[in-house]
Amino acid sequence: MFEHTNVFNGNIQSNGNRKNSARFKHLSPLKERLNGFLQPQPSNYCLESTTFGYNNTNQSVMKEPTKRVIVAGATGYLGRFLVQELKTRGYWVRVLIRKEAQQSLFSDVNEFVIGQITQPDSINGICDTTDYVISTVGITRQKDGLTYMDVDYQGNANLLAEAKQSQVERFMYVSAINGDRLRHLKIFEAKERFVDELKASGIDYSIVRPNGFFSDMQDFLSMAKKGTVYLFGDGHYRLNPIHGEDLAHACINALENGEHEVLVGGPQVLSQKELAAMALKAWNKPIKIRHLPDWTRRFSIWLLRNFTSSKTYGPFEFFMSAMAMDNVAPPHGSRHLKDYFDEVVKQS
Ligand SMILES: NC(=O)c1ccc[n+]([C@@H]2O[C@H](COP(=O)([O-])OP(=O)(O)OC[C@H]3O[C@@H](n4cnc5c(N)ncnc54)[C@H](OP(=O)(O)O)[C@@H]3O)[C@@H](O)[C@H]2O)c1
Repeated sequence: MFEHTNVFNGNIQSNGNRKNSARFKHLSPLKERLNGFLQPQPSNYCLESTTFGYNNTNQSVMKEPTKRVIVAGATGYLGRFLVQELKTRGYWVRVLIRKEAQQSLFSDVNEFVIGQITQPDSINGICDTTDYVISTVGITRQKDGLTYMDVDYQGNANLLAEAKQSQVERFMYVSAINGDRLRHLKIFEAKERFVDELKASGIDYSIVRPNGFFSDMQDFLSMAKKGTVYLFGDGHYRLNPIHGEDLAHACINALENGEHEVLVGGPQVLSQKELAAMALKAWNKPIKIRHLPDWTRRFSIWLLRNFTSSKTYGPFEFFMSAMAMDNVAPPHGSRHLKDYFDEVVKQS
């Protein structure tokens, strides 16, 4: 289907006469390229087939508008499911990557753009000609000398500035459940600062607050593999984690419906104790759960905050704080954690 593959480097003139220094990799039919790369597209009245490419035989048939979306964070767990969901629904998709090699993660993307969200000059013009911007960019563990503020806040703020410049229709940002209640944590200080900025930006927005992803429940599986799961307190706090594919579906629904703020969880609400038992069962281990008194959790947070840098304590204070409260969001999707655990064990 992809007839040509080209990398575009620097100084691309796009709509608004801005000079782009982002690098575009465009997987396009020759015809589209000759019509003018990155010229404003009549995307709302596109006659093209919703699968990528033009269709010589049906150009007179008016189809539903094909919206153009740029996804930042597409290489991550959720981002990949989002790209897949967007393509399934017929969107034209541009993906922001940091390294050329990351293209191999995708099989069906219309355009790649290479840039660093933390370096504004490298993403100049990346939102041009798109209708929607989606960002799942964020870090759980601070690395490469970058903090939550550098990436979760400033990186996304740089992208928002581009989105404003390009006058996109809507910006979707993925934060996390209870982020607004946990602003005192380093990770949410950054994420929620960006949420505030997005809300005040004047651009229409959708903020998604998902529950923990299935992929993050592997910590329970890792403990269970060794035979014992440790919980703080009596394990009564509840959560409904969600599979990336179900979450991606809920995200794009929210984007299409113009919902401003949505909480999203998986279909099954479990107590931490039930979750621990599920992880042990997945390994065929006897149910052995050890309950640590809650003061050990509070003391650990205190110790880490006072004796380590935010690089170390940031993720720990996040996980330990999230473990001491209910995290239940309206249920979405159909995928169950038990099946995910069984699959992970089978593949290990
Ligand atoms: N995991 C959970 O349980 C959970 C629950 C609720 C909310 N969330 C939030 O949902 C969002 C997506 O989560 P996820 O699990 O899909 O995350 P992920 O797999 O860690 O993916 C993070 C994405 O951000 C990009 N990124 C990281 N550092 C970057 C930097 N310095 N510059 C540019 N891009 C950078 C990564 O790009 P590279 O591939 O190039 O590194 C990747 O595309 C995050 O904000 C996360 O906090 C997660």
